[in-house]
Amino acid sequence: MRIVAVANWKGGVGKSCTALNLGAALADRGRSVLLVDLDAQQTLTNGLGVTSTEQDVGHALTSSLRLTSIIKETSTPNLYLVPAGPGLLFIGDELAGRADRGERLTVLLEDLPAELDYCIIDTPPSIGTLTLNALTAAQAVLIPTAARAEAMAGLLGFLPMLPDDRRVLILVTRQDRRSKHGPAVEADIRKQYRKQTLTTVIRESVALSDAAARVKTIFRHDKRSRGAVDYAALANEVERKVKP
Ligand SMILES: Nc1ncnc2c1ncn2[C@@H]1O[C@H](COP(=O)(O)OP(=O)(O)OP(=O)(O)O)[C@@H](O)[C@H]1O
Ligand SMILES: [Mg+2]
Repeated sequence: MRIVAVANWKGGVGKSCTALNLGAALADRGRSVLLVDLDAQQTLTNGLGVTSTEQDVGHALTSSLRLTSIIKETSTPNLYLVPAGPGLLFIGDELAGRADRGERLTVLLEDLPAELDYCIIDTPPSIGTLTLNALTAAQAVLIPTAARAEAMAGLLGFLPMLPDDRRVLILVTRQDRRSKHGPAVEADIRKQYRKQTLTTVIRESVALSDAAARVKTIFRHDKRSRGAVDYAALANEVERKVKP
């Protein structure tokens, strides 16, 4: 199984949108994909139409509950979800003092069925216990980075936080090629992080925000939209660059 954490300490850069639509694109290619929502905001969980669950990943992180008992099917074949819940807000306190607090997710993922090809983890916009669990468990860290003025400062602060030997994949998102700054920001990122920056770019697209508002993946909402084209290209590149 390939484990990919989708992370950036900056908010609103397209982490949850990327986790959802990359997962859906891989599932459409016949891969078996588990999405894990580690954000108390539950954007990914709600984005898949799951609104209330008795048990979520927070319970598994703090007890002996197994992930396999809380996996949900989604309306996309091959795409599964471990939901988040509001209790995740307090997980730092609940795990405080435990020597294994950073490795809880790693241990939980070891127990998953061998048939899964990918585990994609969505994280909150911060570097707390949950993000550290995701970074520790993952072999690759996908960093959505909005093509906005503050992008470079965000990367400079975030990259040193990653554990050694993780594959770093920077994904330029929310790119508006007609804007003055977007293309310049992307050029700066490519110059500074040439090897780590993916060829695929996610363009700013109304279809992506509309799809989210309608609780659909971009492929269900409009498979001919730019968002669908871009996320299918991302799936292709991730398949080539992240090896089991
Ligand atoms: N490429 C895009 N084009 C247009 N809208 C987008 C794009 N990517 C994301 N969005 C929209 O921007 C908003 C923020 O995206 P998203 O929730 O994925 O960001 P996030 O990084 O997960 O935010 P947070 O840090 O709060 O978890 C959402 O309304 C989403 O639908
Ligand atoms: Mg999010």
